[in-house]
Amino acid sequence: MEPVPRKSELSRDPVAVDFEALRADFPIFATGQQPLHYLDSAASAQKPACVIESINQCYNHDYGPVHRGLYPLAESASEHYEAARRTIAHFINAAHPDQIVFTRSATESINLVAQGWAARHLQPGDEIWVSQMEHHSNFLPWQRVCKNRDARLRIIPLDSEGLIDLEKSKGLFGKNSRLIAITQVSNVLGTINPIREIVASAKQHNIPVLVDAAQSVGHMPVDVQDLDCDFLAASAHKMCGPTGIGFLYGKSDRLAATEPLLLGGGMVDEVNIDSSSWAEIPARFEAGSPNLAGAVGFAAAADYLRNIGLRAIEQQVKSLMLLAYEKLSSIGGIHLYGPAPGLNRGGIISFNIGGIHPHDIAHIAAEHGVAIRAGHHCCQPLMQHLGVSSTARASFNLYNNERDITALVAAILDAKRILGHR
Ligand SMILES: Cc1ncc(COP(=O)(O)O)c(C=O)c1O
Repeated sequence: MEPVPRKSELSRDPVAVDFEALRADFPIFATGQQPLHYLDSAASAQKPACVIESINQCYNHDYGPVHRGLYPLAESASEHYEAARRTIAHFINAAHPDQIVFTRSATESINLVAQGWAARHLQPGDEIWVSQMEHHSNFLPWQRVCKNRDARLRIIPLDSEGLIDLEKSKGLFGKNSRLIAITQVSNVLGTINPIREIVASAKQHNIPVLVDAAQSVGHMPVDVQDLDCDFLAASAHKMCGPTGIGFLYGKSDRLAATEPLLLGGGMVDEVNIDSSSWAEIPARFEAGSPNLAGAVGFAAAADYLRNIGLRAIEQQVKSLMLLAYEKLSSIGGIHLYGPAPGLNRGGIISFNIGGIHPHDIAHIAAEHGVAIRAGHHCCQPLMQHLGVSSTARASFNLYNNERDITALVAAILDAKRILGHR
């Protein structure tokens, strides 16, 4: 396979982008009677027509089995699948497409590293470090592997603003630390963690770092060579791509030291009654029939975002977050979680209004056409740190606008009125 061009284009300076016009790329906003104020992109992003079309095109005209046939349709299906891998490698500036393993999701990618890499390398008494803000997908796989191997799951604490204290955390890692698994952007607090600095400090102790990039890839420029992380996991559906596909990036030596999670067709070199050998990487990690349409849709989403510019998307979402933060702050009784708006935070705002259950806010918001999330956001250890069982959460993406924020504020004020909150 050809290596990926070295220079990332993701950090290009933003040109003026007409985000209001881009909203028309998303068919969902043209359907329904009531305007849709979709503020739940941290759960899953909406899809532009080009992604939907690419999947239609694949099933209507290009569909065939991947890596399994010698006739033209099968061969072109394999080419499309590998082209998608190159697109994703390029998107995160991986040194080589073989460092991209297609999985079902960020969750599966992290489980692959926990079961395939950590379970092989952990000894009793070793440590794996995660932060207090991790999603269950970047918590439970480590909890289990630590239990099974008599290792310790250690927690990088947060300060009162929901930030990792970098200086303090540097002193935490030591000779028994075997892995740091950390999110780049918190799906509750919006905190953007200083991954480069964490990796640099981990390197001094030879500790590999896995980055949970479910909330960062597709929302800001992410360059794995610049971060110098060992593994990185993400899902297509949070990047305006289809559900059911994600990827694991791994440095080549780390992937070579990883056992496959799933065994079956397509991942073998030779199978005998007594023993078998595995195919080359990445096929070794992709047992079963590959998700061709998913990969094609994923690549279309990556191209769509790259054409807009990741820096421009990041800035647009940040300005929406700042505006929302300001407007929400003026609502009586509201508590906003996470770092102050001037600090490093992305387009996610979690909040509570004293005495009102977040589910009630979300229900009333839904009547206003405002889609927000309420619950623990798969972050119960973080909820315990915050001293609550749940929060409401608004999250922004490139298709949101000021009208969505106005509708959110109106919905919250209405919820307060209906529920008798002063
Ligand atoms: C920070 C973070 N990590 C991991 C995940 C898991 O992603 P997926 O459900 O696509 O596997 C999520 C999903 O919300 C997330 O927000």
